[in-house]
Amino acid sequence: EGPRKYLIGGNWKCNGDWDASIDRVTMFNGCGDIPANVEVVLCVSDIYIPMLLQSIRTDIAVGGQNCGVNKSCGACTGETGSHQLKAIGCTWVIVGHSERREGFGMAGETVGLCAEKCKVALDNGLSVMFAIGEKKEERENGTTMDVCASQLAPLAKILDAKDWEKVAIAYEPVWAIGTGLTATPEMAQETHKNIRDWVSTNVSPEIAEAVRIQYGGSMKGANAKDLLAQPDIDGGLIGGASLKDDFFNVINGVP
Ligand code: G3P
Repeated sequence: EGPRKYLIGGNWKCNGDWDASIDRVTMFNGCGDIPANVEVVLCVSDIYIPMLLQSIRTDIAVGGQNCGVNKSCGACTGETGSHQLKAIGCTWVIVGHSERREGFGMAGETVGLCAEKCKVALDNGLSVMFAIGEKKEERENGTTMDVCASQLAPLAKILDAKDWEKVAIAYEPVWAIGTGLTATPEMAQETHKNIRDWVSTNVSPEIAEAVRIQYGGSMKGANAKDLLAQPDIDGGLIGGASLKDDFFNVINGVP
């Protein structure tokens, strides 16, 4: 067992309707014990959050997939504030997912905005899975770590040392998301190590040692074990496989 507790997040994204969400909750409630060295959180669409908070097993936390950038905002039509997520009982939120950075046809979220959202969510009492990662062409032209550093730098600038206790970095290579292409354990480990080294140099060695770095991108039961065995991979952020009971194969894949 490593120095850090594993963190396995499920990200349902916008998949499925009310009935499908209830079916997944029922399925996960019957999936057996969660190992003691694993923390599990499911991030679902806001409209399903109350249902999960009421019905899902107590050893799975519930979180949002995004939140507003304002500390407390009434006049923010269409947003869900981190203060609201916190007040209803969520403990986590994902910030900076590549799909939001990209913008799905709208203006995407800038590195600065993602960092600010993270800080506000932390100030409002949530923990944050802060997603970063390079695109295919960036991997191919050798700028993976430049991209990750550019996404982390504005965050390092505005977080206090204490804030980092409630941050996990979710490294999600964009080319591996939803594509079935997974980074090999060696590739993922190399980038995770580079990210940890970056945090050591630019934040502090203590925080680098403590911060959890999750891998995301086509992680599933069949590949989780090898990924999670790497020394700098402290968990996963799971999309497609978190819609199925294979999510528990990931959870049970921890060393
Ligand atoms: O946030 C999780 C995600 O982007 C990975 O998705 O479907 O490749 O596991 P998937």
